[in-house]
Amino acid sequence: MEESLSFVIREAEVSDAGALVVYFKQVAAESHFLSFDETEFTKTQEEQAALLQDFKDKENQIYLVACLGSGEIIGQLSVWSTHKKRSRHAGEFGIVVKKKYWGRGVGSKLLQAMLEWARSHPIISRLSLTVQEDNEVAIRQYKRLGFEEEGRDRKASLVNGKYYDLIRMGMLFPNP
Ligand SMILES: CC(C)(COP(=O)(O)OP(=O)(O)OC[C@H]1O[C@@H](n2cnc3c(N)ncnc32)[C@H](O)[C@@H]1OP(=O)(O)O)[C@@H](O)C(=O)NCCC(=O)NCCS
Repeated sequence: MEESLSFVIREAEVSDAGALVVYFKQVAAESHFLSFDETEFTKTQEEQAALLQDFKDKENQIYLVACLGSGEIIGQLSVWSTHKKRSRHAGEFGIVVKKKYWGRGVGSKLLQAMLEWARSHPIISRLSLTVQEDNEVAIRQYKRLGFEEEGRDRKASLVNGKYYDLIRMGMLFPNP
């Protein structure tokens, strides 16, 4: 049996920008389930820093990272929302874990931290995501947590010459 992995979940700091740029280029090369490949993550460290600052400035957004004791980032989850009164309660999220650490509980911990944040949030009352139809691990995980399928964007993703539907999933939270 594999030894349990020791890591912490924390909010990202602006100073994580450089590490996150390197992180995204790596994870994009490791999975065909993301909406971009390794050539398409083109943010500079400065742009990533500005994005992280924006997450810190807005109360209806959160940027979480999972880190080893060494400080290495091994997982990332962010929830983004608009500032508009009619939609600021609705957050959308994306998650990715380094392939070396898949199946070690990192994704589950990131998702749990996000759900705790959402459940006690004064504004957020809905979370949603988009997942490629063949991403069985992720779909199972989302369903187990209570996300429900809300719709399908047929053949919205094209990977290595093959089309895939994108499934839209969501969960509602009563405001506290
Ligand atoms: C989806 C993803 C975030 C899950 O993160 P993770 O850290 O591997 O998740 P966990 O270790 O918490 O595992 C969650 C469940 O999936 C299972 N699992 C994880 N990786 C698996 C794998 N490669 N094969 C089979 N099962 C797997 C685990 O056993 C666990 O099931 P359990 O709770 O019944 O034991 C991660 O696989 C990933 O980054 N994938 C690529 C990017 C991606 O798909 N992002 C989501 C886009 S919507």
